[in-house]
Amino acid sequence: METVLSTNKLTKNFGKIRAVNQLDLEVKRGQVFGMLGPNGSGKTTTLGMLMGVVNPSSGSFSWFGEPATHHTRKKIGAVLEHPIFYPYLSGQKNLELNAMIKGADPAHISKVLETVELADRKDDKYKTYSLGMKQRLAIASALVSDPIILILDEPTNGLDPMGIAEIREIIKRIAADGKTIILASHLLDEVQKVCTHFAVLKRGTLMHIGPVDEVGKGEEIVEVQAYHDDLGVLLQEFVGSATIRKENGIFEVMMKDGFHSKDLNRFLFDKGIVASYLHTRKKSLEKQFLEILADHKS
Ligand SMILES: Nc1ncnc2c1ncn2[C@@H]1O[C@H](COP(=O)(O)OP(=O)(O)OP(=O)(O)O)[C@@H](O)[C@H]1O
Ligand SMILES: [Mg+2]
Repeated sequence: METVLSTNKLTKNFGKIRAVNQLDLEVKRGQVFGMLGPNGSGKTTTLGMLMGVVNPSSGSFSWFGEPATHHTRKKIGAVLEHPIFYPYLSGQKNLELNAMIKGADPAHISKVLETVELADRKDDKYKTYSLGMKQRLAIASALVSDPIILILDEPTNGLDPMGIAEIREIIKRIAADGKTIILASHLLDEVQKVCTHFAVLKRGTLMHIGPVDEVGKGEEIVEVQAYHDDLGVLLQEFVGSATIRKENGIFEVMMKDGFHSKDLNRFLFDKGIVASYLHTRKKSLEKQFLEILADHKS
């Protein structure tokens, strides 16, 4: 699979603040790549560098294996800030102006309006649009030049559940149409719903990168209780124990790879102890990410 974007130790300092710290990312063609992180974790700054509106302090990145140039940037459509539209012009007219500025073929406009489900409202003035429609027009304007890559920064921010669902459907449709998408979000749920791959940022630092479908996997934790005074000590003797915690009177044994609850049960049984409670759960990546996302910088 062709590499569309790769960053190499990409770093941005604002004075003493390191907004993005030695970031190494790789995005391949056809991926819907999520950049997940709490507020202030450096998502927008990273996208700004990729779009050439923020200068990196150090490190580098390349699009399609080449350093960013005017030529490579033409292959990228982005919705970063709210783009400027003329309130008294229709959605259609706004897109025509947009296409003209970008030197794009206005023939794309009708297809793009279909994609974002604004075809039936295209002749209405921009100022009459709902927030969701404005956001969809912003996506349409990024698509007018038929880019290979679409970059979206928090595309569902501020929208109601209906509006959020619509935007997510549209993102999936654009991906199905063969475009590579890079989107920033602070919502794990959003990334799980629309992305194929993702990176997790915390205070500008990459914490994780990989496919979304791995999120459910993780280490096994066995919760165990037994009527035995030295259960905690005994559990430490079990070869499959990685770490042991006690919570609300229940021991939580983090299992080493390849060990399962039945091994623990057999171990206890051999010691003459019958577990009164035995329950397996996974420490999913999901839980780890929710912990990261709860880590607000400000
Ligand atoms: N122009 C700037 N000048 C100074 N500091 C900045 C500037 N832009 C961003 N920062 C700082 O860089 C850090 C990362 O900010 P950034 O906007 O990239 O985070 P983010 O992940 O997009 O957050 P959010 O989820 O709130 O959009 C923050 O500490 C922020 O205050
Ligand atoms: Mg941001």
